[in-house]
Amino acid sequence: MLYSEKVMDHFEHPRNVGEIADADGVGQVGNPKCGDIMKMYLKIDGDVITDVKFKTFGCGSAIATSSMATEMIRGKTIGEAMELTNAAVAEALDGLPGYKMHCSVLAEEAIKAALADYYKRQGKEVPDNLKLPCEDEEHGGCCSCGH
Ligand code: FES
Repeated sequence: MLYSEKVMDHFEHPRNVGEIADADGVGQVGNPKCGDIMKMYLKIDGDVITDVKFKTFGCGSAIATSSMATEMIRGKTIGEAMELTNAAVAEALDGLPGYKMHCSVLAEEAIKAALADYYKRQGKEVPDNLKLPCEDEEHGGCCSCGH
């Protein structure tokens, strides 16, 4: 079987799909490898992510990884969400085929972009680790930061 049961479950029954009208941070990123797009909405209270929703034009792997990623950051602090990597999300799904790893980058980057947007809206400086990676090996050299 190409995809794990968890991937299939999150693909067929994605969690947290939609929009948050009064979101505190919104991030949109594109995947340069396939042209797919992901939008992430965060509701933040104090330091805690109280709600999260996503929308994507990505493939099944993008849907499954975003669904899992939103479950992993809901109720977590901003600091914890910042630490979430696409590799950790893929691992939580019991793995993805190697050639689909680039799809999982969308969720991580969209969360980071939404957190960066939150900092900007608060009038605060965006922390360095929210700046999107340029040609980062771990990210398969794919980058949507526009640098
Ligand atoms: Fe584009 Fe998977 S092929 S996100």
